[in-house]
Amino acid sequence: MARAQRKPINYMRHLISIADLTNEEIEEIFALADEAETLRAGKPASGHIMATLFYEPSTRTRLSFESAMQRLGGSVISCSDMKASSTAKGETIADTAKVVSSYADILVVRHHWDGAVQAMAEQADVPVVNAGDGSHEHPTQTLCDLYTLRKEKGEIKGLTVVLCGDLKNGRTIHSLVYALARFGAHVVTLAANGMALPHYVIERLERDYGYALTPVAADALGAVVTETDALYLTPRQPHQLALFTQVDQVIQARLNTLATGLRYDAFYMTRKQKERMNDSSTDSGYPTIGRDFLRERRFQDTVVMHPLPRVDELSPEVDKDRRGIYFKQAAYGVPVRMALLKFLFDRRTQKRSAVKRQTISYESPERLGPQCRNPNCVTLKEPVSSARRFELRLPGQDDALILTCSYCDHRFKVQFAGNVKSKRYYFFDGALAPTLDEWLRNGDLALFDSIKEAEELGYEPFKSGPQRMLMGDAEIRNALAEMSEQILRDCRDADRLLILGVRSAGSHLAQRLAAEIEKRCKRKPEVGEVEIYGSGEEVRRLSPADTDAGALNLKDREVILVDDVIFTGRTVKSALSIIFRSARPQSVRLAVLIDRGHREVPVKPNYVGKHIPSSEEDRVRVRLRELDADETDQVVIYSIVNSSEKGRKLERQPGAASTK
Ligand code: NCD
Repeated sequence: MARAQRKPINYMRHLISIADLTNEEIEEIFALADEAETLRAGKPASGHIMATLFYEPSTRTRLSFESAMQRLGGSVISCSDMKASSTAKGETIADTAKVVSSYADILVVRHHWDGAVQAMAEQADVPVVNAGDGSHEHPTQTLCDLYTLRKEKGEIKGLTVVLCGDLKNGRTIHSLVYALARFGAHVVTLAANGMALPHYVIERLERDYGYALTPVAADALGAVVTETDALYLTPRQPHQLALFTQVDQVIQARLNTLATGLRYDAFYMTRKQKERMNDSSTDSGYPTIGRDFLRERRFQDTVVMHPLPRVDELSPEVDKDRRGIYFKQAAYGVPVRMALLKFLFDRRTQKRSAVKRQTISYESPERLGPQCRNPNCVTLKEPVSSARRFELRLPGQDDALILTCSYCDHRFKVQFAGNVKSKRYYFFDGALAPTLDEWLRNGDLALFDSIKEAEELGYEPFKSGPQRMLMGDAEIRNALAEMSEQILRDCRDADRLLILGVRSAGSHLAQRLAAEIEKRCKRKPEVGEVEIYGSGEEVRRLSPADTDAGALNLKDREVILVDDVIFTGRTVKSALSIIFRSARPQSVRLAVLIDRGHREVPVKPNYVGKHIPSSEEDRVRVRLRELDADETDQVVIYSIVNSSEKGRKLERQPGAASTK
């Protein structure tokens, strides 16, 4: 089947993400909602048709949208069950969107794939509203949530809202946390075990909204939850905790007072999104709100919200209490959606507002190229209805080349960059950034997930200049042996030791360190890895590999975080933030094979194999036999010229095909 022709992005005013509305526009919608009765009398939607396409079950969202449209004087067409539509015959979402947009003036869509509504909006000739896409976003629920908070508490700025439950899969949470950040609220996240806010969401909060997060001990939140750690997100007053390599007593004590001193304005409870999980996930430790909560004095003014439906995380006892406001929250669905529809009808041809980040958009000029790593992303589920389009972030933030999927916002790292004209590919390094920028502007940049992909397209490896070996096989072995001794000397309780590598080179080094430790104390410590740019589990066990051992537990462990090279320290910072989000270890110490001595964030390695002061132009690579079958272990350094000159220089290498 031919790929669907895509319309230019920003063609029409859709609502896919909460980022599509400015704070002022949200206020405008709320002002309209306050006047819902006047709106109803004016019948501003008469003669208009709204189509609801719900590929997933819904009660509130669908019925409140339909009621809102009818109250505005418009009418509604719908498929009672999408399984009974042409979808069952294999129609793509792109075709469905195109067809239905000629029957209606607005589409309201819910789908089980992340990014599906964005893909449909790219095909539609009328505005499309996201009524929930997979575990990605649910912006109209957020409008109802904010409206409810505003009605109950006045201004949103300065409120402290506790987000509780399944923060990983709950789409309402993702849209809400961005909005709360934008309106200047404080956020405490209280995730159920293994259901923490995804790293891509946290990272966006930090990057786009200047939020910083600090872990808060669960016991500081009283009887509401047990066995769960919380995070405290605050606007524009960066806490440094995630940067410390050791959580000491003083910091812990300060955090506890910070937490107990908090005034909680709202608890936003969510159900466990069972439909988005593998059956293997256990049922243990899901937080609940009930009688204990109601009795706690410090929660006496804390309202309880829930997007509904609830299962058993929210006791019906709260229904009768003045603080339980979730039915009101559901009722506001109608005036808020009436206001939103009116707002969108008034702006049908206006371009999407400029709230979305200014970003570089990247689509590979080649047939093969990077793919989103989120298995539930529309780009993987139905490639013909979408494009492989990403937001590209050149280093500056990280030492890596990071792509963010334009449909589902998941981020991942790319390691191979090629030039379309010279047909050469390169192993990416921060120092290549200006060159890549130039290739990107000329449309010559081809990124690859693997060497195999590049070679399949006839690309050849770029032969780098003279290399100097900095550490050989034996020296690496000795360094690891020495580090393992130091680790054991500092270790308070070997039973609690956990060696955690940063994927991938760090994971291999972690395994080797663990083997060295085993030689010395006759017991192999547990080994795990942290994946910073993945979209699966962020922390997982490597050994012992047996699956019966269950998920890796970081609580109260003495963690040794291992990486091959530390340069700016940003990778380590991200790894630390993942660790602190997943649990509260007793301590975290950092072991690196090479310290390049150029840190931009205050992270100090505790164990270093070798100090190699090197400049930005230098490329230092740790080659390990596990990663490169033909290699022996070695650390090499080579130089590249760091200017746009370099791009041309690279292109002039002997053998490079010149098409200029
Ligand atoms: C939510 C949803 O569908 O994401 N429900 C809703 O729209 N009110 C929350 C949920 O299903 O848990």
